[in-house]
Amino acid sequence: MLNKKVEELLNDQINKEFYSAYLYLDFSNYYSAKGLDGFANWYRVQAQEERDHAMMFYDYLQENEVCVTLPAIAAPDKKFDNPSQPLKAALEHEEYVTSLINNIYAAAHEAKDFRTMKFLDWFVKEQGEEEKNARDLISKMELFGGKPEGLYLLDQELAARQYAAPVVSAT
Ligand code: FEO
Repeated sequence: MLNKKVEELLNDQINKEFYSAYLYLDFSNYYSAKGLDGFANWYRVQAQEERDHAMMFYDYLQENEVCVTLPAIAAPDKKFDNPSQPLKAALEHEEYVTSLINNIYAAAHEAKDFRTMKFLDWFVKEQGEEEKNARDLISKMELFGGKPEGLYLLDQELAARQYAAPVVSAT
C-alpha cells in the first residue's frame, strides 16, 4: 500500500503531465498558424510523449491498487509575440516538471517507498533529456532563427521528429 502523500503526489502528476500535453499542443497550434510546420510537428510529438508520461503514472497507481482521480485539466493561456517565446516557455515548464518529479521522489524517500523511487528513476533521467532538448532548441534558434533561410532549415530539421513510445527497462 502506498503512503498517502506519495499517492496524492503521483495522482496529481497525472494531471500535470496531461497539462503538459495540452500546453505543447497549444504551442503546436501556434506554430501551425505561423506556417512553421516543422516546429508544429516537434511540439505535437512532444504532446504525445507527455500523454504517455501521464499514462505511466496512471498505470503505476492502478498496479498499486489505487483508485485514480481525474480532476479537470487547466487550459493553456500563454500568448506569444514571436516564434522564440514558446521555446523559452517550454524550458521553464520542463524545469518546473523536474521540480515536481524531485518533490515526489523526496516524499517517496522519506516514506522509504523504494518501489516508487525505482519507478521515478525513469522520469528523473527523462527530465534531464527534456531540459537538454529544450535548451538545445533555444540555442539553435538563437544561432539560426534570426535569418529566413536559417529558420527554414531549422523548421525542416524539426519536421523529421517522429513519435516513439517510451522504452522503460524492467531492471
Ligand atoms: Fe513529462 Fe516533459 O515531462
